[in-house]
Amino acid sequence: MDFSTYTAQSPAHNEFRSDTFTTPTASMIQALANATLGDAVYNEDESTIALEKKVADLAGKEAGLYCVSGTLSNQIALRTNLIQPPFSILCDHRGHVYVHEAGGLSTLSQAMVQPIVAKNGHHLTLEDDILPNFIPDDGEIHGAPTKVISLENTLHGMIFPLDEIKKISNFCKKNDVKLHLDGARLWNASVATGISLKEYCSYFDSVSLCLSKTLGAPVGSVLVSTRKFVNKANHFKKQNGGGIRQSGLLAVMAITAIDENLPKLQKTHERAKELGELCDKNGIYLEHPVETNFVFIDTKKNKWNPESIKTLAEKHGIKFYGGRISFHYQVSDESFEAVKKFVLETQEDAKKNPYDGGDQVRFYSNIEE
Ligand SMILES: Cc1ncc(COP(=O)(O)O)c(C=O)c1O
Repeated sequence: MDFSTYTAQSPAHNEFRSDTFTTPTASMIQALANATLGDAVYNEDESTIALEKKVADLAGKEAGLYCVSGTLSNQIALRTNLIQPPFSILCDHRGHVYVHEAGGLSTLSQAMVQPIVAKNGHHLTLEDDILPNFIPDDGEIHGAPTKVISLENTLHGMIFPLDEIKKISNFCKKNDVKLHLDGARLWNASVATGISLKEYCSYFDSVSLCLSKTLGAPVGSVLVSTRKFVNKANHFKKQNGGGIRQSGLLAVMAITAIDENLPKLQKTHERAKELGELCDKNGIYLEHPVETNFVFIDTKKNKWNPESIKTLAEKHGIKFYGGRISFHYQVSDESFEAVKKFVLETQEDAKKNPYDGGDQVRFYSNIEE
């Protein structure tokens, strides 16, 4: 078999739009040859069971459920945490579950959402954000009681402090509230802080861990929790068309991605930090502190012109949209240098021709209107 497509430089080498663009490696493709071919909907596929067990063990949870996406994993987790409406889910107003999952909380869970603007701009706190907005289930019939709090770690690359997680978790336990974590990039938080996945996950009832982003697997996420919870979530997974038959093929690629790529995350953080420092030195405003693999450039405050962004990104051969510069393990040395030049030149351009045209590039800017 010719593996040259997979051993050559990844097409994602110059891709800064997201860490989801990573492509399968030769070792992932080789792993396919050893995948089992059972039907995972019947729970008869050994490779899928091995992946679910591996991630559940890493997270210190009883069971795992392989899902086709982080969206499915988050949405069925939140649905499973809820029983009888009316109820609310409280989360950060920037939370993926609220902003980027196609309104699934209102349709799939019939939940009201309480999107909270964190007072410190970084993460929700119990004192400042949760207590003032919490709706108790105390018999008052005009509200929709808060039944789930959903956190995200990392959020825009920022790490949720463990001490605050502990406080929120304690509060949830005392008040019969479930705590979910969108841990799409919990891997990054764990690598950056040295706090184990197990420790982080111990404070949550359910956690969704993505495999197809920073770790580079082609497909999927694993939802971890108790066996009872996972069995129920599997019911919702099937209901939402999420059953995958011979998922062993995907599972072995994901296992390879965890084994090979987890140790590579540190370097992506170092690169993001280096770029963040370069921005600081050159007076380029950032939206958020750089704590893991993302640099969020404040394009509006820097008065970057969308047309110049496009032209200069093309000139330097990099892919970029919005203000988010995402680092993953397949970014090449050349592209890393190119993105630095791109940032500096775009800033120079903005100094000469400041752009005051309001909103910048759309999130998915390549979609035709
Ligand atoms: C924080 C976060 N959670 C969940 C998801 C959803 O994952 P998927 O694209 O696999 O549905 C994403 C996707 O980028 C994400 O960034």
